[in-house]
Amino acid sequence: MADALSIRGVRAGYGATVVLEDIDLALAERGSLAVLGRNGVGKTTLLATVMGHTTLHAGAIEYRGRPVGHLPVYERARLGIGYVPQAREIFPSLTVEENLTVSARPGGRWTPERVYELFPRLAERRRHMGNHISGGEQQMLAIARALVGNPALLLMDEPLEGLAPIIVDALLAVIARLIREEALTVVLVEQSARLALEVTERALVLNRGRIVHAGPSAELLADPDRLAGLVVTQ
Ligand SMILES: Nc1ncnc2c1ncn2[C@@H]1O[C@H](COP(=O)(O)OP(=O)(O)O)[C@@H](O)[C@H]1O
Ligand SMILES: [Mg+2]
Repeated sequence: MADALSIRGVRAGYGATVVLEDIDLALAERGSLAVLGRNGVGKTTLLATVMGHTTLHAGAIEYRGRPVGHLPVYERARLGIGYVPQAREIFPSLTVEENLTVSARPGGRWTPERVYELFPRLAERRRHMGNHISGGEQQMLAIARALVGNPALLLMDEPLEGLAPIIVDALLAVIARLIREEALTVVLVEQSARLALEVTERALVLNRGRIVHAGPSAELLADPDRLAGLVVTQ
């Protein structure tokens, strides 16, 4: 079977500005990958490039064996790539429920009712406006919205950022469940390296737009000095 995601020799950025260089990675179906690195190294740009929001200067991006590097964003979404952007980007003037129904792509396992089971707090807030729920609930909604699009590959950009520890724990449990029980392939960008390494199988570290480390997550987790050298902000 083809990999869920294969990236070879990618150089990408914003217009003429190149941010990513020599990016190679392969992620198997149902695999999970943590993307780590300090601020500004290109993590968001990597996810945005897979989704089609940047300028691809060179290289190939394949999703399930199919070249997608030059497809528009909506085509990639239609094929099954889901994106939880760092800015969440939920609709503030729509209710929680409306946010879900406008994003739903029926035919897969994820319906609004099923994501309410995953996030009971969203069920309680279903009639509240997107801007009248807490930051944690907004993040849950951002993930829920991606899920009702029924993706096979889910790209998540710092879903734990700025949230209270109790919410971080709840979200992390959901992410772990998506990886282990729900047959999703997941790419997780995260500042909290240890948390991301605990739920993923593999990890890569970016620095200045290049991959400077790639390997099993457990290996990095077991080597705190190495991890600190690679990702801790000085
Ligand atoms: N829209 C943009 N236009 C031009 N440069 C950008 C844009 N967004 C990010 N960058 C630059 O790309 C680099 C990587 O940013 P980003 O991918 O957001 O890093 P990270 O997510 O790792 O913090 C940074 O130098 C940043 O200034
Ligand atoms: Mg970022």
